[in-house]
Amino acid sequence: EKGGYDHFMIKEINEQPHTIYDCLRGRLDPVAGTITMAGVQNNIEQLKNAQRIVMIACGTSWHAGLVAEYVFEELCRIPVEVEYASEFRYRNPVINKGDVIIAISQSGETADTIVAIDKAKEQGAFIFGVVNVVGSSIARLSHAGAYTHAGPEIGVASTKAFTAQLAVLTMVALKIALEKGTITHDRYMHLLNELHEIPDKVKLLLEDAENVKAIGLKYKDAGDFLYLGRGYNFPVALEGALKLKEISYIHAEGYPAAEMKHGPIALVDEKLPVVFVATKDAYYDKIVSNIQEIKARKGQVIAVITENDETIPTMSNDIMFVPEADEIVAPMLSVIPLQLLSYYIGVAKGLDVDKPRNLAKSVTVE
Ligand code: F6R
Repeated sequence: EKGGYDHFMIKEINEQPHTIYDCLRGRLDPVAGTITMAGVQNNIEQLKNAQRIVMIACGTSWHAGLVAEYVFEELCRIPVEVEYASEFRYRNPVINKGDVIIAISQSGETADTIVAIDKAKEQGAFIFGVVNVVGSSIARLSHAGAYTHAGPEIGVASTKAFTAQLAVLTMVALKIALEKGTITHDRYMHLLNELHEIPDKVKLLLEDAENVKAIGLKYKDAGDFLYLGRGYNFPVALEGALKLKEISYIHAEGYPAAEMKHGPIALVDEKLPVVFVATKDAYYDKIVSNIQEIKARKGQVIAVITENDETIPTMSNDIMFVPEADEIVAPMLSVIPLQLLSYYIGVAKGLDVDKPRNLAKSVTVE
């Protein structure tokens, strides 16, 4: 059942070339320049005229919503808010007619997300579900949606569901942007192609797993980790920190790299591993200076970088590579070394990586 792997978590990490491919298959046609998604097409007026989009989710799915915030605002020029379902539900949220709620959930059974959807529905919002489990409660509660098609996720820590959520959300954004006319045809075609190439790039980066394992062994006894990123890679830093906490029980925090100087930099000393998600994108020069700031304070820099980068390796203790990709799709790649890192650290510490203490696969209590 684990297909020759020691754990479901590593099996599911390694499945990602196929799960992302399955998510794109039958939808994305990079030659014809089409994205076929009935849930979007049948509701295109509602979606493209949205005054606001509110992403509602918890945990890893909330991180997918954060990446999508950057993607939707950039491509569709629609204001986006990303809400923890539990907080959205219990305050008195302002929901206007014409607001679109995108509910993101692997299990489709997360109680906090379900009650938040109920509340938004009562107030007249249109609910679009991005769900993995077919026929689940959230899929049924949504007015429309798109499944992530990642297959059953057994490991408690979410891995392949996250990258599939990003693939779906990016396709939805591209489709809306094309209809709205907020993207040029060239950029649209380029991004279709970039998405199409993701499964092969994931396959390539998974070949670096032994290197990531060696880095994991080196840092497994650290008491704390920091994860830093900017722009599209900021939510990836949050997700990397969450994975490490869940799987290795090591305290970890994710931050936008520029926030360091507003407080957390006080934590940096020669013992602290600082993971930078620093692939080549519009924020690259800025994050290079952030790395220098950490180096100057003797932190241990571990960096996820684009494979042809010759600068960051000269200022880092350890390096993990991902293939070059447009920044819009880069999180689907840059998160994977971080999934691997937490897996290998958890295993090295002898922990039950598939069933971390105190966690359940779907959280059906509020
Ligand atoms: C993290 C994790 C949780 C879930 C969260 C939402 O690895 O598994 O943080 O992401 O409980 O679950 P879903 O997506 O099923 O609504």
